[in-house]
Amino acid sequence: MKQTRVMGKSPETLEEELREAGEIIRNGGLVAFPTETVYGLGANALNSEAVKDIFVAKGRPQDNPLIVHISSRDQLEDLVESISPEAELLMEAFWPGPLTILFAKSEAVPFETTAGLTTVAVRMPDHPVALGLIDYSGCSIAAPSANTSGKPSPTKAEHVIEDLDGKVDAIIDGGATGVGLESTVIDLSGEIPMILRPGGVTVEQLLEVLPVVEYDLALKDETLSPKSPGQKYRHYSPKAKLELYCGDEDKVMEAVKSRRSELEAEGQRVGILTVDEHISSYESDFKVSMGRQDNHEEIARNLFDSLRAFDSFDIDVILGEGFEESGIGKAIMNRLHKASGGNVRYL
Ligand code: TXA
Ligand code: MG
Repeated sequence: MKQTRVMGKSPETLEEELREAGEIIRNGGLVAFPTETVYGLGANALNSEAVKDIFVAKGRPQDNPLIVHISSRDQLEDLVESISPEAELLMEAFWPGPLTILFAKSEAVPFETTAGLTTVAVRMPDHPVALGLIDYSGCSIAAPSANTSGKPSPTKAEHVIEDLDGKVDAIIDGGATGVGLESTVIDLSGEIPMILRPGGVTVEQLLEVLPVVEYDLALKDETLSPKSPGQKYRHYSPKAKLELYCGDEDKVMEAVKSRRSELEAEGQRVGILTVDEHISSYESDFKVSMGRQDNHEEIARNLFDSLRAFDSFDIDVILGEGFEESGIGKAIMNRLHKASGGNVRYL
């Protein structure tokens, strides 16, 4: 057990604490910190021993590579072999921000960070605490989401404390994260830029900068092996089983209601994951709204916190409503789909 320090509680001491947290990273320790997407669990990206500790703390599968976080464009040169014109355009448009770009890795990046791959994923987060921590540590920071592997990603310091207290050196509380789900991961190595994981930057936004962008086929066809190793695992899962209902609004609500009766008749504790417009029409005691139906940014921001909320109700089955897959809806549905382990009904 480590003695985990919780930092960031008071604005007056934040700067000093960031300096100390930077020192922890520089000395090979682990620090969880907020980004604009979700909280990350950071270690010096070029220190293979420190990086190994991340996998242990999270219980992360060994073959799942980490994203390296930088605070300035100069740091990229040390990490990668070369930078393509497409990458330049994307960095110009979206950094700092929720876009992770794959590059051929330089020798400086250990295989522990990339889980044996010859590519390295890099992003510049858009959050003053994350950028300050990178600056104070004086190195680039490898950081997966700061949750126990398999659980919903943390969007509040409390989520990180729940999962990682006693396993990391420090947790910096920066309040709730803004985007609420992870960065988009893009691979530029082929002829067509490929989205390996949908996230905070949408395909519509990417298409304003690049002429063509496609989704990795494995995002649609589960029989194919995904290029982003993380996409193959059951993920984002609350303790309860999640069943997802998508399509016509009225049919979805009807289906959720009748399924709830059926499960409760079997003696199961049922939770309902819904939106502001629908919540009052469900009689359940265990219901959570993620926000307004048409406000996908709000839904994204509340998604993981809502999934975690059911854990404290001791629910057996969550019945959830799906969303339109346009804009950030694509990433919302990717996370819900995974959280449900593919248990999705289209009506
Ligand atoms: O928003 C985010 O990206 C957050 C914050 C903390 O920055 N980080 C995050 O990390 O979501 P993680 O480890 O939970 O997810 C990283 C994803 C995984 O699906 C992983 O497989 C993929 O990025 N990835 C990392 N390096 C890769 C590589 N070299 N090739 C393909 N996929 C890679
Ligand atoms: Mg993750």
